Amino acid sequence: MEIQKIAVIGAGNMGHQIAMCAALSGFSVKCTDSNPDILEKAISFAENYLKERVAKGKLSEEAAKQVQTNIAFTLSLEESVTDADLVIEAIIEKLDIKRKLFAELDNLCPTHTILATNSSYIVSSKIADATNRPDRVCNMHFFNPALVMKCVEVVKGSHVSEETAESVMNVATKMSKTPVLLHKEIYGFLVNRLLQATRQEALKLLDMGVASFEDIDTAAKNGLGYPMGPFSLLDLTGIDLAYHVGMEKYSESGDPADRPSPTVVEKYTKGEWGKKAGKGFYDYE
Ligand code: 3HC
Repeated sequence: MEIQKIAVIGAGNMGHQIAMCAALSGFSVKCTDSNPDILEKAISFAENYLKERVAKGKLSEEAAKQVQTNIAFTLSLEESVTDADLVIEAIIEKLDIKRKLFAELDNLCPTHTILATNSSYIVSSKIADATNRPDRVCNMHFFNPALVMKCVEVVKGSHVSEETAESVMNVATKMSKTPVLLHKEIYGFLVNRLLQATRQEALKLLDMGVASFEDIDTAAKNGLGYPMGPFSLLDLTGIDLAYHVGMEKYSESGDPADRPSPTVVEKYTKGEWGKKAGKGFYDYE
């Protein structure tokens, strides 16, 4: 099936950039969020981003105008998905909320529509049975910042049809990404499993008082050639996300080692959620 119309549900940290990627690649995109403030932020981001690309000479004025016509923002979930070929969900990492949304999407979307989740950790088989189309429910996982990062993980659990996986891989390629296909479901997929190992160790070193978070970041950058250190990255991806993911994992495994680290809990409780909050490990005011 050739996908032309995409709906992105959730215009937050990931969703607004995924929507822009799709619009830049010529898809017709509708981006929705139930929170008017978040949607408003996504609309100004889109305007400013396109202006900036034109000013940088990376996009012609004509192309920017075309992208603007490719993308629409709406508060209405129904309006965003009624004619979508592919829905990409990018809402909060809470299983019960995602299951409720997917059941609603199943009722609102045409029969052919593929429902993908951008979840960082939750495998789609945990959501697919909330719909009557499990073969068309899969993971399509982007990385932050989605406009820049080339990787997209497409996960073909045993309930996912070949056609669904192929269509989603094709969409990612059309978005100028380099998708990777996972042939089975695994918690954290590929990238977050690798990332988690570094992140856990960095938090442990900080909690043990071995070095400051700034020096741990510097060590990762200059000793390993990482583009940014683990604490800058936590600020970018969101400390709230790290907290929810840790809690979700802990509630499933019951293993105390899976609980978010004391530092993450402290920052989460204080509302210091990273770049989007103006403060995380670093100050962004
Ligand atoms: N949004 C959109 N574009 C951005 C951006 C952002 N937040 N930050 C940077 N860019 C763009 C710039 O506009 C610039 O574009 P151009 O070259 O076409 O003009 C380009 O990226 C380079 O930007 P800068 O020169 O300002 O900065 P850097 O070269 O330092 O790159 C970075 C910034 C891309 C964020 C880089 O530091 C990086 O790759 N960091 C690692 C990010 C990473 O590891 N992401 C994965 C996180 S894990 C995840 O997302 C999983 C999830 O499940 C939690």
